[in-house]
Amino acid sequence: MSAPAQPLRLGIAGLGTVGIGVVKIVQRHAEMLTARTGRPVTITAVSARDRTKNRDADLSAYAWETDPVALATRDDVDVFVELMGGHEGTAKDATIAALNAGKDVVTANKALLAHHGQELAELAEGAGRVIRYEAAVAGGIPVIKSLTEGLAGNAIRRVMGVMNGTCNYILTRMETAGLPYDTVFEEARQLGYLEADPNLDVGGIDAGHKLSILAAIAFGTKVSFDNVVLEGIGCISIDDIRRAADMGYKIKLLGVAQMTGRGLEQRMTPCLVPAASPLGQLQGGTNMVVIEGDSVGQIVLRGAGAGEGPTASAVMGDVLDIARGLRLPTFGQPATSLADPIPAAVSAPAPFYLRLQLVDKPGALAKIASALGDAGVSISRMRQYGHADTTAPVLIVTHKTTRDAIDVAIAALPGTGVVDGAPVALRIEEV
Ligand code: NAP
Ligand code: HSE
Repeated sequence: MSAPAQPLRLGIAGLGTVGIGVVKIVQRHAEMLTARTGRPVTITAVSARDRTKNRDADLSAYAWETDPVALATRDDVDVFVELMGGHEGTAKDATIAALNAGKDVVTANKALLAHHGQELAELAEGAGRVIRYEAAVAGGIPVIKSLTEGLAGNAIRRVMGVMNGTCNYILTRMETAGLPYDTVFEEARQLGYLEADPNLDVGGIDAGHKLSILAAIAFGTKVSFDNVVLEGIGCISIDDIRRAADMGYKIKLLGVAQMTGRGLEQRMTPCLVPAASPLGQLQGGTNMVVIEGDSVGQIVLRGAGAGEGPTASAVMGDVLDIARGLRLPTFGQPATSLADPIPAAVSAPAPFYLRLQLVDKPGALAKIASALGDAGVSISRMRQYGHADTTAPVLIVTHKTTRDAIDVAIAALPGTGVVDGAPVALRIEEV
């Protein structure tokens, strides 16, 4: 008789939404996990800040460690599962300690990877360990696995998507309920959708973290979150959403990463996308990632980007890969072979949407057209809406142009004497 297979022993730091989701899957599907990997997957020890907190799972069979670093280095832990969050302090210290102690690491922590991905990947690979992080990008959607495995034979042209469910919830709720941003933001807070620091969501930072990780895999470059152009959704009004819809578009907080002749472009900004496109039709808190490869063409991945079940599902996918013996470099190729990214100084040209509040007097439109023309911006479509007192909203869709040219035009608009307030300029992304 052959010896029973050695269990894969997990140490889980963080028993919040995701951590408890992982505990539940390990407990609920013990037999299934063993059948699929050929060895039991067990939990040895857990850690969180408050031992007395009532948690929605029976943890009595596991050792408790008050210090996640101690948990990460225990002899009876094979895989350190980091589900605490934060890119400095304990999460980083415990991850480094685990790798130095010869443990593999599974994490859902996009901030940690966006800020320290290169350092951690080099440490892990130098020590012969793996770091897996499927849950860090788009929650339950297996996008890391798609890029590093299923699409590994493709030169990736572009990766884009909606990667923050909270922002997509806010934008689609504004549209369907006809409510202003501030009201829906407050609603999202009440529903518990917002991060403790809401600017991580609505400022585009959380989604920017995710995009920088995808860009590293897609283009073989070191993670460079600092080079992601970030704009949040706070400038989007219900009027923008309505006017965009009138013209056949939806507004999304859209991430786009592409390698161009000018360098690596990484943007996480509010954009207009065609209403009929898969991205345009994405409702509520759902995420969508679109990947374009030279052989596969375009593929669209859609699913829950957050929540206990979907995120724990992604963590468990990583754990099971380790149990099966799958060992890949962190970003799909050895960390030492990743190139230093050259950030594109200007993004690829695109049409832009401009919303202006125009003083309603003769010659006003001509002055606007002239200011745009002087900046080299050509108008494709223009629409004026009804008056509000002495001003009227005017919408302009430009021909393809650069963000720089748009900025030059916007800077010139106050000098025309016919524009009231700050114009809104949003890129229209071809998807
Ligand atoms: P959470 O509900 O706030 O839980 C965090 C857990 O970590 C808590 O159990 C907390 O302990 C523990 N913790 C925090 N700091 C600690 C420390 N210094 N020492 C020990 N334990 C500590 O967070 P979450 O939503 O589960 O998120 C966990 C990770 O998954 C984050 O990196 C997050 O970005 C990522 N993620 C989350 C989701 C989602 O849908 N929630 C989706 C994708 C990725 P106490 O319980 O005692 O306070
Ligand atoms: N705050 C994130 C979101 C959670 O809204 O998508 C998942 O990363």
